Amino acid sequence: MPLPSPPSPIILSVRHLKVHFRPRGIWPRRRGSIQAIEDLHLDLRAGETLGIVGESGCGKSTLARTLIGLQAPTSGSIRYGGQELATLPRKEWRPLRRELQMVFQDPLGSLDPRMSIGQIVAEPLRELCPEIPASEHPKQVAAMLRRVGLSPDIVDRHPGEFSGGQAQRIGIARALIVRPKVLICDEAVSALDVSVRAQIVNLLAELRQEYGLTLIFIAHDLAIVRYLCDRVLVMYLGRVMEQAAAEDLFSIPRHPYTRALMAAAPAGAEAQPPGPENSKKKRKALAGDMPSAEHPPMGCVFHTRCPLMESTCVASVPGLRRVGPEHYAACHFVAAPEQFR
Ligand SMILES: Nc1ncnc2c1ncn2[C@@H]1O[C@H](COP(=O)(O)OP(=O)(O)OP(=O)(O)O)[C@@H](O)[C@H]1O
Ligand code: SF4
Ligand SMILES: [Mg+2]
Repeated sequence: MPLPSPPSPIILSVRHLKVHFRPRGIWPRRRGSIQAIEDLHLDLRAGETLGIVGESGCGKSTLARTLIGLQAPTSGSIRYGGQELATLPRKEWRPLRRELQMVFQDPLGSLDPRMSIGQIVAEPLRELCPEIPASEHPKQVAAMLRRVGLSPDIVDRHPGEFSGGQAQRIGIARALIVRPKVLICDEAVSALDVSVRAQIVNLLAELRQEYGLTLIFIAHDLAIVRYLCDRVLVMYLGRVMEQAAAEDLFSIPRHPYTRALMAAAPAGAEAQPPGPENSKKKRKALAGDMPSAEHPPMGCVFHTRCPLMESTCVASVPGLRRVGPEHYAACHFVAAPEQFR
């Protein structure tokens, strides 16, 4: 019988990450801070695709931007390949930018309209790969455009001449031309029509395989996350609510927020097995709005919307507890089987 393959090594490890912002506006002067990310832990394994889901404003983009050095953390640790990134001076980020690339949500808005497509795709080569002579760039740009399904003849055209799907292919080419190890896709397909969305998701799945990429895939669409991701992290108000292998999360969601998110999703993404937590009280779909990150609720931040809320939930913050192999949930009432306590 073949032995089970060992889990791949952790290449990115985040501990106790906090990212706070000053409230916007200078008058009247506001005190306090916006807690975009709060005490977040995350491990990313080489070659895996980690999905990050959660409602708008839960901190997904802030997390992505912090991981690639576009946003400084308030505190906490981000270790990548043995290096601490949280305190890394700006100028020392350059070699890492080559390894950690990002594809953005707004395909057209993320491409400079004054630059030609050739210049846009070659820009990371110019900035991050000094050892590659400029004479090589056109050849590499043409090959990368072809690989993402575009004609190399478009190099002299400008972003405004392209559809959202084509622009996102250009964004992917720009990110991959420096052969990154980790690609973060922040809602990279959310703005696209459904049919184009499927094409881009399939392209990402092919490229992941071909380039041996480790992928962080941020999305609202749970059906796509279920299709593409190995593991999923569910965020709410900057905190991790649940984290598990995609298969486990979608078949046995343990956290009341995950359940509500799935119940609120269109058919195809939801999973509603009868669990002990369900029998306790009737499960409800996600109601109301997420509270402000400037004034998060005491105790469990989900308590203002949770159908299972009890006084303990207001009094104390539930820690992430292990509820199965590689399955974690932050809820006082999610039962952890004996062997995982
Ligand atoms: N530069 C900033 N200054 C102040 N507050 C910010 C800033 N960037 C983000 N925030 C706040 O931080 C919180 C998290 O925002 P973020 O954009 O990371 O959420 P998100 O999960 O990516 O949302 P969406 O799904 O809408 O993209 C929100 O409350 C947002 O208003
Ligand atoms: S700790 Fe309480 S409020 Fe929070 S998710 Fe669990 S039951 Fe709901
Ligand atoms: Mg976002």
